[in-house]
Amino acid sequence: MSDNPGAEGGKTVKIGVLGRGTVGSALIGLLEERAAVIEAETGLHPVVSGVLTRSQGDGEQIVDEADVIVEVMGGLEPAEALVRRALMAGKPVVTANKQLLSRKGDQLFPLASEHGAALRYEAAVGGAVPIVRVLGDTLSATPVERVHGIVNGTTNYILTAMAKRGESYAEALKDAQDAGFAEADPTEDVSGSDAAAKMALLAMLAFGTWVSIDDVDHTGIDKLDLQDIAYAREFDLALKLVGTAEKLADGSVSVRVHPMFLPMTHPLASVDGSYNAVTIESPHVEEITLQGPGAGGLPTASAVLGDLISVLHGADEPKHAWVTLPKAADVDSAFYLHFEVDDEPGVLSQVAQVLGLQKISIRSVAQKGSGDGARLVMITHRAPESAMAAAIGMISGLGFVRGEPRAIRVFDEENA
Ligand SMILES: NC(=O)c1ccc[n+]([C@@H]2O[C@H](COP(=O)([O-])OP(=O)(O)OC[C@H]3O[C@@H](n4cnc5c(N)ncnc54)[C@H](OP(=O)(O)O)[C@@H]3O)[C@@H](O)[C@H]2O)c1
Repeated sequence: MSDNPGAEGGKTVKIGVLGRGTVGSALIGLLEERAAVIEAETGLHPVVSGVLTRSQGDGEQIVDEADVIVEVMGGLEPAEALVRRALMAGKPVVTANKQLLSRKGDQLFPLASEHGAALRYEAAVGGAVPIVRVLGDTLSATPVERVHGIVNGTTNYILTAMAKRGESYAEALKDAQDAGFAEADPTEDVSGSDAAAKMALLAMLAFGTWVSIDDVDHTGIDKLDLQDIAYAREFDLALKLVGTAEKLADGSVSVRVHPMFLPMTHPLASVDGSYNAVTIESPHVEEITLQGPGAGGLPTASAVLGDLISVLHGADEPKHAWVTLPKAADVDSAFYLHFEVDDEPGVLSQVAQVLGLQKISIRSVAQKGSGDGARLVMITHRAPESAMAAAIGMISGLGFVRGEPRAIRVFDEENA
């Protein structure tokens, strides 16, 4: 920190800001607007000492000259090299970069501890929703069994438009792009990869074990059909892209992101538009749900600013005491199944027979349409996902099945 007096006579603290896009510009605005409050709270007057963009600033020089680094540029390089440089110099880093942490956190968190530097990342998961603080600090000694999250605002916006306005996937995506909720290239969001990075970080916080994004099985929303949403409504279910991190009875950890049908009574079922929400389940606290804006310049910059203030307070850093937990080999899920079939007798009994061979029982079934439009739609009870994959493989090979069967997970309270 510099001895130069700030506006209120306190010391100044030099903030190096790496990136001035959506989040970086909002943060720079907030630092100016809230400077007096920050100084009153921390005794330090924040000054932006350098800003890096593709056309402005020298990253290494900005890091070397600042007291604290805010990394809001995204991507792996040069973000990783600059974050490492700051941590090795013992400088606190606040980042919003889930991709970087979910790939390199196993090296960056130990590096931060080794050099006694803070590495904070509230904005990397859930935007303004303070989930990192709650899991990593408030509930750090609470045994968490499961975390469910809607952690990608773009896909939630698209699914809401499909469910509420009856738009096709393509129409809803265009709508999201026009409204500024989806990038021109939406792949990272709609493929589930962005949500997978965030769920890796939430699993790490919940279970104290390192989880890389590569350990997170994920399916996106780009293959969903409007018809499935309409049929599922008849079963009183809402379709969301849900991330699940859970510790199984054998001590293994499963982290996954898939489209999932939720009963309307589930706290995540009514989270609409670009909002994010996370539900934490633990025998000690039952269920806690946090909800709020998951993205956007000001909400995300507010989360960054909260981390910055903790750093300036010299708050104790949440420790990551890693334990090694195996990755779960298989998990149980209930499924919604949709088959286009020839309109002939015996179809349902043959499908039920194959499911029975894999010990999968049917909870409810509906036969839709007739002739070329005949369809079989069903909800199963929970069964190992490997058994379901085997059953679907066998059913696809039956002569009366046309097109690709569709299978979507269903949240089932039986065992959840
Ligand atoms: N936007 C959100 O709502 C949101 C929410 C939560 C988390 N985040 C995370 O916050 C971070 C920033 O997101 P954003 O939406 O603000 O991104 P953005 O609008 O694309 O801005 C990125 C900024 O970083 C600069 N930058 C990128 N690569 C660079 C490079 N190689 N060298 C120098 N400068 C570079 C860009 O420079 P130019 O100006 O020259 O292009 C731009 O100023 C990301 O990690 C993102 O995942 C964003």
